[in-house]
Parts: sequence; C-alpha cells; structure tokens
Amino acid sequence: MFKRTLVTTALPYANGPVHIGHLAGVYVPADIYVRYLRLKGRDVLFVGGSDEHGVPVTIRARKEGITTQEVVDRYHELIKSSFERFGISFDVYSRTTSKIHHKFASDYFRKLYDSGKFIEQTTEQFYDPETGHFLTDRNIRGECPHCHAAGAYGDQCEKCGSTLSPEELINPYNAETGNALVKKPTSHWYLPLDQYQQWLEKWILEDHKEWRPNVYGQCKSWLDGGLRPRAVTRDLDWGIPVPVEGAEGKVLYVWFDAPIGYISNTKELCDAQPEKWGKWETWWKDQDTRLIHFIGKDNIVFQSRWLIYLAG
Ligand code: 2FM
Ligand code: ZN
Repeated sequence: MFKRTLVTTALPYANGPVHIGHLAGVYVPADIYVRYLRLKGRDVLFVGGSDEHGVPVTIRARKEGITTQEVVDRYHELIKSSFERFGISFDVYSRTTSKIHHKFASDYFRKLYDSGKFIEQTTEQFYDPETGHFLTDRNIRGECPHCHAAGAYGDQCEKCGSTLSPEELINPYNAETGNALVKKPTSHWYLPLDQYQQWLEKWILEDHKEWRPNVYGQCKSWLDGGLRPRAVTRDLDWGIPVPVEGAEGKVLYVWFDAPIGYISNTKELCDAQPEKWGKWETWWKDQDTRLIHFIGKDNIVFQSRWLIYLAG
C-alpha cells in the first residue's frame, strides 16, 4: 500500500468563472475522494490552482479591453473564492503567475535544455501580416478536416473532439481578426517524443494498465500511430520567457508550464509549512506516493504528454 496520496485537479484557465460542469466533472469528485482519504486517516495532499498563461487569457483581455494581468487577477480571485464557497477543501490553491512557479518552471525547462533533451527546429508557422504576430494553435480557426464543422481550433475540433494541427485545417484564419494567414519561419524547442517510443510503450502499456480505460486507450492509439517531436515553446508575449539567450519574444508553451504548477504549488505549501507538510520532493519523487490527477476529458492529450516529460 502507498504511504501517501497526492491529488491534483486541473488548473482552470483564469479567463472566466468556473461553471457547474467543471465542478461536477472534476472538483467535486476530487474533493469527495480527498475527504474520504482524510476520514480514513490517510496522509493526503490536495493541490489546485489557476492556469494564468496561454492564449485563452490573452483573448479574454483583448475582448474586455483590459490588460492580461488584470484578467488573471480578476478571475483567479473569483475562481478561488467560488471554490472556497463551494467547500472544495484544497490544501493549497495558488497561481502560475506566482514567483515560485515562474522560477520553478523556468529551471525545469533549463535543466532539460542543458542535458540536451530538446531539439531546436525551424519551421514555417502561421503568421498574421497585419498584426505582425505568429499565431498559436488555439488562435487559428478553420474548417475541421474530419467533420467539416466551421470554426474548429488549430489544436482541437470541439464538435467532433479530434486532436488537430493547424496545417490540417481547411482555410485557416486568425480567430480574432478573421485575417487570412501566411507561413513564416520561426525556431522552437521540441521534445523528441519519438526517441522515447519504446520506453513509453513499456511504461504506459505494460506498467500502467491501471490508468483509466479511456486515457490508456488514447495513449495506446498515439503510440500505435508513432510519436512525433512536440514543441514546448511558443511565439507569444504572455507567459514564462524561454530561459535561453536569443529566445526573446518566446515563452514556454502553456501546457508545458501549467502542469508544473501542480509541483510548484506543492512546493509553495511545503516551504510555508514544512513542519506540517514536509518536503515537496517527498510528495513528487518518493515511490511510496500515489499520484492521482482529476482532469476533464479534453485535457487527456495534453496532460498525458506532460506526464511523459515528467517521467522522462
Ligand atoms: O483546460 C484547462 O482549463 C487547462 N487550463 C487545464 C490545465 S491542467 C494542468 F495543466 F494544469
Ligand atoms: Zn471536427
């Protein structure tokens, strides 16, 4: 039996209030589970927090005509107090704009960079010549190549649930301005997941048969299809700057930094009350800790990729 359980819940984007679907699907089930473990006298830590980077918050800022910082301050407070009023009993609820998180995520990237885990690649990306910005996947929309719904996102079609890349969209355009896009070269750092294919097949398909069937099934289908390198940086002016010389204007991809928030929020709590919570490393590195993530279905692909970075 595990000595302790660490429970995390998906960090909601601080770009709007939490709604009943989030509560019913993720936070209430997690809270019930944590309360059950506490009643059984188990050692348990319940981590939450706001996801304050990424394109969704920048879109909200432009829509509301306020700064991105104002957006995340407003919604972080609103979401945090909604959870409190709803009785979700987090041991820590912090944010990915905290100093601790910025340093932790930046060091995490740098460690992988210094040990040669990334490859740098220059590719042609969609660029809006009128605004002078590269567009992230989420900011590009177009027709879904599978179900032909209009307005599918560059990373996902919300109509049929397919995971997409912007190249697959039919007639891609800037989601905000509607401008047609051109391709322009830009360089980014990629994690070459293909190099870990064999190891991952064993780690997931053989050693983690206890994962939820739909998560296991999705991972199996990507492994069967062959893994590809994934970019962990983006051209964006909101986020954690890529800690490499010459990378001005580039930030860590939000799905690289946000799940690190689970760890940095644990660290924030442990550093503040070491006598009660011990060291963050015990919660994250000790083989006797059981780690359970509560997430929404549309988070499976991103969260699984991140677990792979963590395990690798
Ligand atoms: O879908 C979302 O709302 C994401 N912000 C979830 C992030 S979960 C984890 F990375 F923190
Ligand atoms: Zn579709």
